[in-house]
Amino acid sequence: MSTKTKIAMKLRIVKYKFLWFLCSFILGCAITLYYISKVDHISSAHTGLSKYKNLKHSYFLVILILTSSKNYIRRKNIRETWIKSIEKYQVKYLFSIGNKDHVLDLKLKEEIHQYDDILLLNQVPDEFTSLSQKVLHSMKYIYEHFDFQYLLKCDDDTFVRVPNIIHELEHKFHYDKKLYWGYFDGRARVKRLGKYKEINWFLCDRYLPYALGGGYVLSQSLVKFISQNSDMLSLYTCEDVSVGVWLSGLDITRYHDVRFDTEFQSRGCNNSYLIVHKQNMHQLYNSLMLSNQVRLCFQEYKDRNAYEYNWKVAPSQCCVRNNSKIP
Ligand SMILES: *[C@@H]1O[C@H](CO)[C@@H](O)[C@H](O)[C@H]1NC(C)=O
Ligand SMILES: *[C@@H]1O[C@H](CO)[C@@H](O)[C@H](O)[C@H]1NC(C)=O
Repeated sequence: MSTKTKIAMKLRIVKYKFLWFLCSFILGCAITLYYISKVDHISSAHTGLSKYKNLKHSYFLVILILTSSKNYIRRKNIRETWIKSIEKYQVKYLFSIGNKDHVLDLKLKEEIHQYDDILLLNQVPDEFTSLSQKVLHSMKYIYEHFDFQYLLKCDDDTFVRVPNIIHELEHKFHYDKKLYWGYFDGRARVKRLGKYKEINWFLCDRYLPYALGGGYVLSQSLVKFISQNSDMLSLYTCEDVSVGVWLSGLDITRYHDVRFDTEFQSRGCNNSYLIVHKQNMHQLYNSLMLSNQVRLCFQEYKDRNAYEYNWKVAPSQCCVRNNSKIP
């Protein structure tokens, strides 16, 4: 072999090696790109959620206030009184309104625009009979859109001492992650007639123990449980009865508190109350403001005794009220 052919052969080998290298390089790139795109695809499907999660606002407490479109005055009362006390805290509040018929009057549109505190539920009719559905969808929305530790559900005629609730969650309950806190009833008779009648109730001859709907607090994990199982939950006429049923099988802390004045009628006024239902909000608020948050009532009084809940006896015996004359 001449040197020329030797050189030519070497050149050809170098050329093949180069081509081989080039092909491998391109193939390598292609494979890498393929995987990157695939991984990216997978992660974007996930980050759709987790990105969202990172954007979620964090709150210690979310307050869900059930209301209906026409209750302007009640929402105004709340905005003018106790809701002002949330400013210093990591608290978010929402008024929840059903909007299934998609007709918002001008006044409500303006209110939505002005305050940005109204959650419109497009799947839920704004009717009394849809309260359980309203609570369920609201909880689902809150669970999906906020990071929070506790949820307080109340009505638009409920007065809440938010600083005190927060203080107790921190110092009394020590951030209990399985808390169901309210004024419980275990012996309520099932309503078969009237506004609150239950048509599909078959679980027991009484309602299962539940915290009265004027105000109750749930840990995030309970809201999560409800949200994640929402497709399978039965809906009863009363939302508080429904929540009691939904959580009935769970191993959680049920804390009965006589400082929740959340019965169908207020029991009176007591400076120890944390939540009050159906009282004059401006009066309560003014009293608190004038006393540096100490006195809720200009004058304490009692119309009825509260009962303590006895968890050790049958629910029908749970809640014995001392009906002796109140002096
Ligand atoms: C207010 O509540 C406290 C503590 O529960 C109780 O000792 C007191 O008697 C109550 N006062 C009235 C007027 O109900
Ligand atoms: C019931 O209430 C009356 C008056 O408030 C009181 O004197 C009595 O000791 C109470 N009874 C019980 C069992 O708590």
